[in-house]
Amino acid sequence: MARSGSYTATAKWLHWGMALIWIAAWFIGILATHWRDELNPGHGLTILHKAIASTLLFLIIIRVAWRLTHPTPAMPDTMSPLMQRGAVLGHVLLYAVALIGLPLTGWFWSSVADKPIMVAGLFALPPMVGPDENLYDLAKATHTYMSWFCGALVGGHILVALKHHFVDRDDVLKGMLPER
Ligand code: HEM
Ligand code: HEM
Repeated sequence: MARSGSYTATAKWLHWGMALIWIAAWFIGILATHWRDELNPGHGLTILHKAIASTLLFLIIIRVAWRLTHPTPAMPDTMSPLMQRGAVLGHVLLYAVALIGLPLTGWFWSSVADKPIMVAGLFALPPMVGPDENLYDLAKATHTYMSWFCGALVGGHILVALKHHFVDRDDVLKGMLPER
């Protein structure tokens, strides 16, 4: 796919919209589990967490389709080939683990626990597999550890974006910001 100076407007909307949903879902997940007695006695935060996070399963289909059919900005020449390969690997991990794998493990967990997922509070997501008590602990551990790994991955992604802008002073962050 040909390279250009900036992401398309649609790619920017998808990136920032999904980033907002992702970061909100992550913090609500942490609050729901670690402050359960104080903030989540009636499971309200768990229901909210699942309602917003599950929208990512649908948005990612549009996002990947758009990504594969539209140009992305060239990386700056100041980045070494090794750094450029690192950036590609980081983005592949964000797509595969944070935006696809993590919602799938949440869906799996709720399915084995026989709990509903209301997508954006609008309609129920069908269960991925039937209820299974024997898989509960595995499903819970997978989603929990993966969520922490992804917290670190996204934290690193944000720090690298800020380093490009404020330390390297290149156009990487500008390519993802709204056109002025
Ligand atoms: C279909 C999508 C998802 C479903 C059904 C789901 C389901 C769940 C459930 C049931 C919990 C436990 C909440 C509780 O015990 O009250 C949880 C925890 C959590 N989820 Fe999700 N999740 C989904 C997507 C995501 C996404 C996209 C993220 C990241 C943004 C995420 C991050 C977390 C975190 C950080 C926790 C707390 C883990 C801990 O115990 O420390 N989840 N999720
Ligand atoms: C304050 C938060 C964030 C900032 C400042 C930020 C910044 C950026 C920037 C500057 C790029 C373009 C990189 C390049 O041109 O090489 C980018 C790409 C990307 N970001 Fe973020 N991001 C943020 C949050 C997130 C979150 C929460 C996710 C997902 C969990 C995410 C996933 C991605 C992905 C997958 C790409 C690759 C886009 C592509 O080339 O297809 N970002 N981000």
